Amino acid sequence: MRIIVVGGAGTIGQRLVPILRSRGHDVVVAGRTSGDVHVDLTVHTTIEAMYRNAGTVDCVVSIAAHGALDEFTALTSDALLANMRAKFFGQVDLVLTGQHFCADRAGFVLTSGIFADQAWPRVTGGGVISGALHSFVLSAAIELPREMRINVVSPTMVGDSVDAFADQFPGMRQVPMDELVGHYLRCVEGNDTGRIIRAYG
Ligand SMILES: NC(=O)c1ccc[n+]([C@@H]2O[C@H](COP(=O)([O-])OP(=O)(O)OC[C@H]3O[C@@H](n4cnc5c(N)ncnc54)[C@H](OP(=O)(O)O)[C@@H]3O)[C@@H](O)[C@H]2O)c1
Repeated sequence: MRIIVVGGAGTIGQRLVPILRSRGHDVVVAGRTSGDVHVDLTVHTTIEAMYRNAGTVDCVVSIAAHGALDEFTALTSDALLANMRAKFFGQVDLVLTGQHFCADRAGFVLTSGIFADQAWPRVTGGGVISGALHSFVLSAAIELPREMRINVVSPTMVGDSVDAFADQFPGMRQVPMDELVGHYLRCVEGNDTGRIIRAYG
């Protein structure tokens, strides 16, 4: 399969990409400055250019762009919208644009996060982004043309991020990297569609 992994140079991507390659897939890593091709999820023209230049794509995996922390009592709708720009609207744009370029039966694998289901201080934006992604995937799964598939992986804090995030999210469970990578692999190689995979450890 020819697979674009947006965010493939990141924490999760660095684990997933070598395994996809070891299984014989032709993987193109994309990022704003990292990777083989450059794309910014907040800029539609770069998404369209990525697809135009990519040739036939059988699967798009997105593991890029975080929601920012916020302060609820100071939060504005404009700030929330800005927070949603990359991780929500960017991933949505990857699918809405990608449906016109990708191969028949192509798969999309998006990434959300545990805050869709679990409230946590200072992550109103993160929760809204991930919850909205789950709803988007349910709709897209029944609307995508040419038997395309779509699923979303919703991780808790991942094993490789514990050192970076444990102080920010004390007591949060973690998901081991091999278990998480297994979820992405099943989305890429399997036949499921419309699934929200809660990787909550
Ligand atoms: N790590 C965790 O514990 C955890 C837990 C739950 C959910 N998640 C979610 O999983 C996803 C990946 O997390 P991660 O920890 O692997 O992230 P990461 O280490 O920060 O890597 C993010 C990757 O995305 C690329 N990227 C960032 N913004 C982008 C944009 N606007 N357009 C295109 N590429 C962009 C970055 O490359 P460039 O800088 O070159 O663009 C980088 O390769 C995120 O959505 C995150 O919220 C992570």
